[in-house]
Amino acid sequence: MSNNLLTVAYIAASALFILSLGGLSNQETARRGNLFGIAGMAIAFIATALSTQVTGYTTLVAAIVPGAIIGSILAARVAMTSMPELVAMLHSFVGLAAVLVGFANYLQPESGLTGAEATIHELEIFIGIFIGAVTFTGSIIAFGKLRGLIGSKPLLLPARHLLNIAMLGGSIFLGWQFMTAGDASGQEAYPTNLLTVENGLQPLLIMTGIACVLGVHLVMAIGGADMPVVISMLNSYSGWAAAAAGFMLSNDVLIITGALVGSSGAILSYIMCAAMNRSFISVILGGFGEGSGKASSGEKKSYGEATTTTVEETVELLNDAKSVVIVPGYGMAVAQAQHMVSDVTKILRKRGKEVRFGIHPVAGRMPGHMNVLLAEANVPYDIVLEMEEINDDFSDTDVVLVVGANDTVNPSALDDPDSPIAGMPVMEVWNAQNVVVMKRSLGIGYAGVDNPLFYNDNTLMLLGDAKTNVSAILGELSAKELVAA
Ligand code: TAP
Repeated sequence: MSNNLLTVAYIAASALFILSLGGLSNQETARRGNLFGIAGMAIAFIATALSTQVTGYTTLVAAIVPGAIIGSILAARVAMTSMPELVAMLHSFVGLAAVLVGFANYLQPESGLTGAEATIHELEIFIGIFIGAVTFTGSIIAFGKLRGLIGSKPLLLPARHLLNIAMLGGSIFLGWQFMTAGDASGQEAYPTNLLTVENGLQPLLIMTGIACVLGVHLVMAIGGADMPVVISMLNSYSGWAAAAAGFMLSNDVLIITGALVGSSGAILSYIMCAAMNRSFISVILGGFGEGSGKASSGEKKSYGEATTTTVEETVELLNDAKSVVIVPGYGMAVAQAQHMVSDVTKILRKRGKEVRFGIHPVAGRMPGHMNVLLAEANVPYDIVLEMEEINDDFSDTDVVLVVGANDTVNPSALDDPDSPIAGMPVMEVWNAQNVVVMKRSLGIGYAGVDNPLFYNDNTLMLLGDAKTNVSAILGELSAKELVAA
């Protein structure tokens, strides 16, 4: 493919990526946004594969075919509840790819660059490997935390900020050593002299090790409730790692795509921090500052007795209600109860009741998790409201159905300054006349904090699997419908 055609293809792919991001900002256009993204990626891939730079088609096919097969199988099989883990794992691959591209570039025998160009190229390599390594190990830790392989409590080492600064300072020093060491490709004794300071590989390798430790430490220091910000932040880092790889490979479309992912991830992290009342800088710096990532005191408080209820009693409350708000959380995703919830909504709306959904920005395990589930179950978009749109309406609500949510409806975020989730805005469901909480026990949520909501006078606990209970509610409501007919 000629260079002109390649440039046109890259411009078209970049435009499609921008259209894709625009589409993804709204539920109604998200599907179209995804299609734009797929088309952009297909064009970028085909154009790169056909460019003059690519000659080793056997290697390309040998790497891509198994990768595409494994990726397709994994993506098709993954449960909605495991999607955040998959995303974290994919971020780690981007980081690892940037590290490998960096080393391959450095060790490339003939870079053909001299003077300022060579210096810039080496800087790209060093920064690319640094960001890639932090993203790689940070994403692996995020994967472990999301999968429950690593506890969600923050690891708060003494002098941890000094440790981070020392690692950053050490990396900058190694960067200086690397930049003044010269290019490996220019070394006469290159194959036998790899581990000498002179050829720069040694500082590069040591920095990679330090950056890997930094990635682990930054994410380990973040507590459970702040994990959403870390995920979007790692998303942003993976974008910058891809952009750095683009600079190393002189691939414009990779630079543009990386910059789009990097900046949109950073904006998403900022929005999430604002929604969770956390300082953006503190979370980026691994829980620096107050409020972010506080460890739980572990002290068990006594809140009295919780009142349990039955499906029949819940249906009666719903029948008597004029306004109902459904607040879904991670438990609805685990139980896969969204279709039943949607059917209950249809029946209640048919009976003239006002039914709306209240979505907390970090409900579930990934941004937009609840919105995706409700869209899949065909819940109309106009009755799905964000937390700030619905929080003031709870005092005029007859019944709130909490379906598998916990941290996002925990009043101690507002009442208890010592709580690890203190300061995080939550759905103020307790202001409604009646609250029915559907979960299997009185146990904790992701942040590992007890929830005083369960013990309030106006809270009824409908214990059990959310799908079983919502399906029983649906059965009861439908039976009443038949009798009425
Ligand atoms: P959580 O606080 O995680 O609580 C979910 C509750 O669902 C659990 O307490 C569990 O209680 C219940 N549950 C589990 N399986 C169930 C089932 N089959 N049927 C009924 N209930 C079930 O949920 P949330 O309110 O959505 O809050 C999300 C939390 O995850 C926040 O702390 C947030 O910071 C964090 N987080 C979010 C994200 C993103 S980006 N959204 C990413 C990482 C972490 P039982 O065991 O008693 O049933």
